[in-house]
Parts: sequence; C-alpha cells; structure tokens
Amino acid sequence: MEISTTKLAEFSTSCLVKAGVPEHEAEIITNTMIEADARGIHSHGVMRLPIYIERIQNELIRSVSKVIVEQENKATAMLDGTFSAGQIVGTKAMEMAIEKAEEYGVGVVTAKNSNHFGIAAHYALMASKKDMIGIVMSNTAPLMPPTGGAEKVLGNNPLAIAAPTNGKYPLLLDMALSNVALGKVIFSQKKGIAIPEGWGADQNGKATTDPSAVLNGGFISPVGGPKGFGLALMVETLTGVLSGGDFSKMIPSMYDLTQKQSISHFMLVINVSYFMDVERFKDLASMLSSYVKNAVKASGVDELYLPGEIEFSIEEKRMQSGIPISDSVLDELRKLAETLQVPGLD
Ligand SMILES: NC(=O)c1ccc[n+]([C@@H]2O[C@H](COP(=O)([O-])OP(=O)(O)OC[C@H]3O[C@@H](n4cnc5c(N)ncnc54)[C@H](O)[C@@H]3O)[C@@H](O)[C@H]2O)c1
Repeated sequence: MEISTTKLAEFSTSCLVKAGVPEHEAEIITNTMIEADARGIHSHGVMRLPIYIERIQNELIRSVSKVIVEQENKATAMLDGTFSAGQIVGTKAMEMAIEKAEEYGVGVVTAKNSNHFGIAAHYALMASKKDMIGIVMSNTAPLMPPTGGAEKVLGNNPLAIAAPTNGKYPLLLDMALSNVALGKVIFSQKKGIAIPEGWGADQNGKATTDPSAVLNGGFISPVGGPKGFGLALMVETLTGVLSGGDFSKMIPSMYDLTQKQSISHFMLVINVSYFMDVERFKDLASMLSSYVKNAVKASGVDELYLPGEIEFSIEEKRMQSGIPISDSVLDELRKLAETLQVPGLD
C-alpha cells in the first residue's frame, strides 16, 4: 500500500506525541524516518516507530529530551544526550558543528548517551545544505566479529559524508560498515535462497552462504573484509571512545527492553569557504561528478551512478507518489494505533 508522506508523518507524529514526546521533537524524529522511507531505506523508516515507542514507554529513551553540553571549546564540543532520542541528539550535535564551522572553519562535536539516530545521511545533508562538508558517524550495538573472530564486538557503524555540488544533488555517501544489513539475510532465508559469499559467517566465524547459519548464532560480515573491520573499529573510536560513552560489547541491543542503550555520534563539519571560494568548490565537485557519470560503462550497464544519486531520485518520486509500506509493517502500525488510540492509516 502507498501512503502519502503527509499522512504517514501525521500518523507518526501523533503516535510519538501520545507517548509523551513534545510535538516539535516528534516532528524531528518523524522527519528522519519519512526521509529514510522516501529514500528507499525502509530499514530506518517508520518500521522503527513501534520499537522507538516501546523504548520510550519503558523509559529507556527519554520522552522529553535533555541534551547537556558537557564540554565546549572554540571548534569542539562534547554533548551528553542523557538517553534522549538519537534524532534529537544528532540534530543538536550537527547544528552545533555547523555553527562552529561557520565561525572557525571547522566544527567537531561528539555526543554520548544517545540512541539510534536513523540514517546518517540526514545529518550530513544538514551541512551540505549550508554549502559545507558534513562527516557523520555513529556506533551501534555489536553485530560483527573482527577479522578471524567469532564474537560480536563491532557495530555495523554507519558513516555518511556529504559535499555540495553545482549539480542536481550533493555528493552523498551513506553506508553501514557491514556488507549488508541483517534484514537482507532474513529476506534470503524467507525466500529459501543462498546468500552471496562475503555477507556472513556461521557461529564459528566460518564464511557461509547459508542464511540460516548466519541467523542461528552467526554473524554479518564487515564490508571489504579487514578494511571494513578496521573502518568499523575507527568509527567506534571516534564515536564511543572519543565521546567518553559506551562502545562495543557495552552496548545492548535496541530490542533488549531491559537496558538503556548508550549510543555515541561524531559530527565533523568543514567550512569550504575557509579553503576556497564555495562556487569554485561546487564547480570542481561537479566536474569530478561528471568524470564519474560519463565514464566508460561496463558491457550491459545502462547508467553509472554517483553515491546518493539512486536514493535522491527515489526520494523525488516518492515525495509525490507516496511511500510503499509493506503489509507486515502496516500490521505493526495498525496495532500501534490501537494501543495508543490514535487514528490509524486506513
Ligand atoms: N543508525 C544506525 O545505527 C545505522 C546503522 C547502520 C546503517 N544505518 C543506515 O542504513 C542505511 C543503509 O546503509 P547501507 O550500507 O545498507 O546502504 P547501501 O548499501 O544501500 O548504499 C551504500 C552507499 O552506496 C551507494 N550506492 C549504492 N548502489 C550504488 C551504485 N549502483 N552506484 C553508486 N553508488 C551506489 C549509495 O548511494 C550509498 O551512498 C544508511 O542510511 C545508514 O546510515 C544506520
């Protein structure tokens, strides 16, 4: 079923408000989920609304957020999210990083004791919309073993980098550091098909193409083997360690309703105008983009894409046509509407 972004946003906001979230915060949380769905990243869209609300109702996420500036210097700051919603902490951290970059050329802000903040792209784009470069990282509960290991110690820590161009879209890389999301392994198991090599390992850490082996005590694998593992480790260092927050095995799963999660974020903003005229940067970034777009294609390939481009074009269409919501997510949202006694989506 396709649902208009306005209707979906109204529904999500009213659910969050019913759970005690102030309206302006509910709108921020909602917008990041709608943006994810519109961009085709359903794993971070409204399918997360029920778990966010469950965590709010269990007082694992603050309903009314409280973000404390723990330490601040000219171009840097450390925030304590005090277990507020990740979207509110992430937004505040990026806003501060932008303000600092406006004044000092660069802004670096860490945040600890936050929660799942949705898609990293949302925050990186806040910087590129101001003609700056945004670099965003977050840690997550551990999902992946180190190279050669058979124990979950690193999250699939997202990393996003956005840079302005003079083209239709900014350059935007937004990725998890696992080869694929666990959801794709679950999808393959349901379809009864093997997963490609490199997606996961069994409980002994041995590479496997059997989705059930990954799901029954196994692991998803870092993107690009030891390089992805190394990147995930460094993201964990810049988020959990540099913020003074939790990291690795200290972080419980989002679906564990007995414990708070202390997620950390890292926001770095570079003010392009401290390096060169902004229009020149955007022209050069567009020139780089055109080298990529116009590169010789491999046989059978119709078009080459820049990072972010596929998601931007899906988003453009869906803002007009609405967002396809799967039957299983719709069922969950119906149950949520009943429990919270808010008008449903039907
Ligand atoms: N908050 C969290 O804890 C958390 C954790 C993990 C992931 N995430 C989010 O999940 C989302 C999905 O991550 P993912 O790694 O599955 O994304 P993905 O694999 O779909 O895409 C990764 C990147 O590759 C680019 N890309 C994909 N196909 C391309 C092609 N054919 N040509 C050129 N570029 C291409 C995309 O534009 C994107 O920038 C991201 O938004 C990420 O921020 C969040």
